[in-house]
Amino acid sequence: MKRCLLIGKNGQVARSLYTTLNNGINTKTEYTSSKQDQSSLYLSLDDMDSIRSCFEQWDAPKDSIVYLAGALTNVEKCEVEKEECRKKNRDGVIAIAQECKRKGYKLCFFSTEYVFGLEEYSGGRIGPFTEDDPVSPPCYYGECKAEAEKAILEIHGEYSLILRTTMVFSWEKDGLNFLMQYIRHMRSWKEGERKFLIPTDQISTPTYAPFLADAAVELMNNNARGIYHIANRDLLSRWEMLQIIAKVFGFSESTVLAAFSPVKTESMGQKAKRPLTAGLSVDKLIKAGIHVPSFEDSLLLAKNLSV
Ligand SMILES: NC(=O)c1ccc[n+]([C@@H]2O[C@H](COP(=O)([O-])OP(=O)(O)OC[C@H]3O[C@@H](n4cnc5c(N)ncnc54)[C@H](OP(=O)(O)O)[C@@H]3O)[C@@H](O)[C@H]2O)c1
Repeated sequence: MKRCLLIGKNGQVARSLYTTLNNGINTKTEYTSSKQDQSSLYLSLDDMDSIRSCFEQWDAPKDSIVYLAGALTNVEKCEVEKEECRKKNRDGVIAIAQECKRKGYKLCFFSTEYVFGLEEYSGGRIGPFTEDDPVSPPCYYGECKAEAEKAILEIHGEYSLILRTTMVFSWEKDGLNFLMQYIRHMRSWKEGERKFLIPTDQISTPTYAPFLADAAVELMNNNARGIYHIANRDLLSRWEMLQIIAKVFGFSESTVLAAFSPVKTESMGQKAKRPLTAGLSVDKLIKAGIHVPSFEDSLLLAKNLSV
């Protein structure tokens, strides 16, 4: 029986991972929560004692797998609450890598496209970025993730897999991912109401959460190591993503034009800089034998879950 520990129980990525792992043969998955409850092990990324005590309690055989999908993911909050961001997105991750090394566990860490993008602001490199491109985080969230990646590779590199992903979406009725936000907005929008602002100069590679989870587990099971990018294969602006979503889910062009407003990122008054002409290259993932679906194919799967 293979043992797995999933950190980040209630997150969007963790929920998909849990489904994939539960479908696996001979796999037992336990999980942690950052809130104390009866059904899971307590682990908070900003509480070193809880990390140590969780790894004392979770006594699994060597080679068991830790999936680290917990994080502070609110990019704007990370820019303001830097200490909290550093504790959760860097220091806690480093402590978990050290525990994994001590106990001989394999580690799968989820990272982000936001480790790239600063150079474009001064006329430099743009995406899609490969695993070999040097990092250049545009904001504090990306900076802490990049530092965590580097530390993991130094501490436990031969036993770790770092998966960078971006713009994760799935069908979740009350979900906050961009697909669900766009659909709820199109469904409820009425004449005269506030338009949803879409930064058209942000170009990326959206990622279907169930595909991300399946690919992560397959790579771990195949003993992949180092850094991989996981995303759907289309490089799209957010406005193009919206057009494809509207087509797949049956909303008219007039609804899109009435309910959404194309804007430039700089006009949105955000504190954290975003990657602009970015996206993740998935050539390495394809070479590893993983089938990478198109955005539209994944939307069709999401739509099947919506009925
Ligand atoms: N969603 C995206 O578009 C996206 C893009 C790029 C990278 N990623 C990366 O993918 C991973 C998962 O993201 P997600 O979208 O699933 O995020 P999410 O929906 O915001 O969930 C993050 C989870 O982290 C856990 N968490 C929060 N504070 C914690 C703490 N102090 N200690 C331990 N766990 C804590 C929470 O789970 P509990 O409260 O249940 O423990 C929370 O549900 C993250 O590493 C993120 O950086 C996501």
